[in-house]
Amino acid sequence: MDTLEWTKIGGASCGALLFFLLLNWGTEIIYHSGDDYYGEQKLAYYLEIEDSVDEKEESTEEAVDFATLLASADIEKGKKVFGKCKSCHKLDDGANGVGPHLYKVINRDIGAIEGFKYSKVLMSLEGVWSIDELNKYLTKPSEYAPGTAMSFAGLKKDKDRADLIEYLNTLPE
Ligand code: HEC
Repeated sequence: MDTLEWTKIGGASCGALLFFLLLNWGTEIIYHSGDDYYGEQKLAYYLEIEDSVDEKEESTEEAVDFATLLASADIEKGKKVFGKCKSCHKLDDGANGVGPHLYKVINRDIGAIEGFKYSKVLMSLEGVWSIDELNKYLTKPSEYAPGTAMSFAGLKKDKDRADLIEYLNTLPE
């Protein structure tokens, strides 16, 4: 072999070495940026968990609040709040109007009054009008039961709902 050939071999080895160095470097960049990316993802994930914990805390807080409001509900005020329902609902057994009668409505089956034509959505709901469910429905009927025939915006104030529900709950039989 002459010098030229040795030079060629040397050059080829150097090229190969450089190639591997570059490859190694490139991989490291990708690896590291990949790592950062995962870091970010993990962070977002943790934040999400924190969020849902917050929500839970809020909802239990609300539930406690509502129970407290119920415990100190003003039945006379509840009777006044019922004034907003009177145009459509009667409290006497069997007296349906625009809406079904609300005699003993607390813990009554949802959509159970014979002869009243309920909307599909109300018929599809399972369960009874527990204080909890009634509280949710009356907050915003269209959100609790989208498509409900009850065209009533809802009672925004927790206290109004608590007073009203307590009034309904304490009516004489
Ligand atoms: C504009 C008339 C209207 C007003 C006002 C109204 N409702 Fe209704 N309500 C209805 C109608 C109609 C239905 C039947 C809903 C359906 O079929 O989707 C209904 C359904 C209900 C139900 C379900 C009864 C069952 O048998 O499942 C309850 C409980 C109820 N209303 C309570 C109230 C209360 C409490 C108020 C006042 C805060 C009120 N509504 C105000 C028309 C009204």
